[in-house]
Amino acid sequence: DDTKAGVKGLVDAGIVSIPRMFIRPAEELAVEELNSCQTNIKVPIIDLSKIQDDSRRKEIVDEVRIASAEWGFFQVINHGIPLSVLDEMIDGVRMFNEQDLELKKEFYTREVTKKVRFNSNYDLYTSLTADWRDTLNLSFLDSDPDPEEMPAVCRKSTLEYTKYIRRLGETLFQLLSEALGLQEDYLGSIGCAKGCSIVCHYYPVCPQPELTLGVRKHADAGILTLLLQNEISGLQVLHEGQWFDVQPTRGGLVVNIGDLLQIISNDKLKSVKHRVTANHVGPRISVPCFFSGHASLLDKPFGPIKELISEANPPRYKEVRLREYIARFFSSSLDHKPPIDYYRL
Ligand code: SIN
Ligand code: FE2
Repeated sequence: DDTKAGVKGLVDAGIVSIPRMFIRPAEELAVEELNSCQTNIKVPIIDLSKIQDDSRRKEIVDEVRIASAEWGFFQVINHGIPLSVLDEMIDGVRMFNEQDLELKKEFYTREVTKKVRFNSNYDLYTSLTADWRDTLNLSFLDSDPDPEEMPAVCRKSTLEYTKYIRRLGETLFQLLSEALGLQEDYLGSIGCAKGCSIVCHYYPVCPQPELTLGVRKHADAGILTLLLQNEISGLQVLHEGQWFDVQPTRGGLVVNIGDLLQIISNDKLKSVKHRVTANHVGPRISVPCFFSGHASLLDKPFGPIKELISEANPPRYKEVRLREYIARFFSSSLDHKPPIDYYRL
């Protein structure tokens, strides 16, 4: 029953050293590795205002193409989602996690078919060690969860945020289609923007942050991730062999390419490794929205887009059915070979 109290439960119990199950292998925890790189280059920030202005749109598409190919990550500002909607989403996640344990426990489950799931570490039983975070997962993948089944403290804020983030997802898929030299509606027309999961991470303060991680090194398996974070930093992206902080920008959202988009773009867009450090300050709260396909696409093969293939650019991946790809993801862990590795040619 202790696991239902999550990582926050450990902190609330007053532990001063972290349980062994959270201690990552030494080579991942070397101090120089944990420190981020101090140079003046940083994860690109793209201003989406004036996106309807033809000449500015072309520049934005170029910025998206370059950032997606070189970093796999960028932040967007002036994206049209009101600050109040972002703040209320974060506040809702905080309230959910900080409410009475009895209320939280009602949502505890590891059953992935459930649309509302609260737990620590989806891969707890298949991974080497556990990460320092608790997570509430809300699935809008095939159909929306029944609002009645969502936690009351964050129901309204989540539904409001989801409405906006889906719309922003559509816009980003248009920009990414154009960045690939395709018709603006291409990625939307193959279903990329249909369905998403709103994943609410809560990273409690950690008494020994140098021994563990909030999320260990991984790349996102899905198509595209849009991420909201509070003011506590921790997200780092691997770029040219160094870890770079993705500094929280007030009102900004982080966008990153997932493995499935790397596959269908035939490596034109890059899915890049990232991680989250644990921290003495907090809580850190983040809300990734994962676009990773839709129930109606489960039996459709995904592979490099035909328009992007030529004699000079042969396909680099085999086709894969989403159903098989997702099953591989859930039966494995972030410590093991990711699904994308099975399909590389
Ligand atoms: C993740 O990569 O899964 C989470 C990123 C974050 O919390 O910033
Ligand atoms: Fe991630």
